[in-house]
Amino acid sequence: MNKTLWTMGALVVMLLSACGGQNETKPADAAQASAATSAAPAGSANASVAERERLMDIFKDASGTMGKMIKGETPFDAAAFQAAADTMAENADKPWQHYTEESAKESPDAKPEVWSKHEEFKQAAEKFVAATAALKTAAAEGNLDAVKKPFGEVGQSCKACHDSFRVED
Ligand code: HEC
Repeated sequence: MNKTLWTMGALVVMLLSACGGQNETKPADAAQASAATSAAPAGSANASVAERERLMDIFKDASGTMGKMIKGETPFDAAAFQAAADTMAENADKPWQHYTEESAKESPDAKPEVWSKHEEFKQAAEKFVAATAALKTAAAEGNLDAVKKPFGEVGQSCKACHDSFRVED
């Protein structure tokens, strides 16, 4: 624990000094550097799939934490529920940019409809983003009754998208 804190402290110091160094970077260099990171490097299809799956797993963990409280398998803990709802809402708009054209062929678990019906896919993603925002707001009330319905709606939005766009195992 102490060692972790120390390591984090050292990391922060390193990051801060790294930022200091960037002041000397010329604006043109900075623009080039950011262009390099946003351009898709060769072979990035696998990286896109991995990043999507990483985010989906975050959704699964957060839903699991909240779902257990909803079902009464674990006692309702307002702070833990809020943390899970926040994590989900903060990541809700992140996976969709990784459904790149070039990753289409490398995506055995995503149906071709993700690309052929991309407008519908985007709408399903937007519904999910809205549902997670509503759940985050409801969680701030700090009681189980307030979160039941919005949690159900988030679950519906996962399921609706999976039904249309995820290959069944
Ligand atoms: C807009 C569509 C969409 C929404 C919303 C969505 N998913 Fe997914 N999910 C997918 C697709 C497509 C896949 C197939 C994997 C891929 O992206 O290639 C997937 C895969 C997964 C996986 C498997 C990841 C892996 O490691 O293979 C999990 C777990 C998952 N989703 C959980 C969730 C949960 C939980 C929610 C809601 C809280 C959710 N998803 C919301 C589209 C969606």
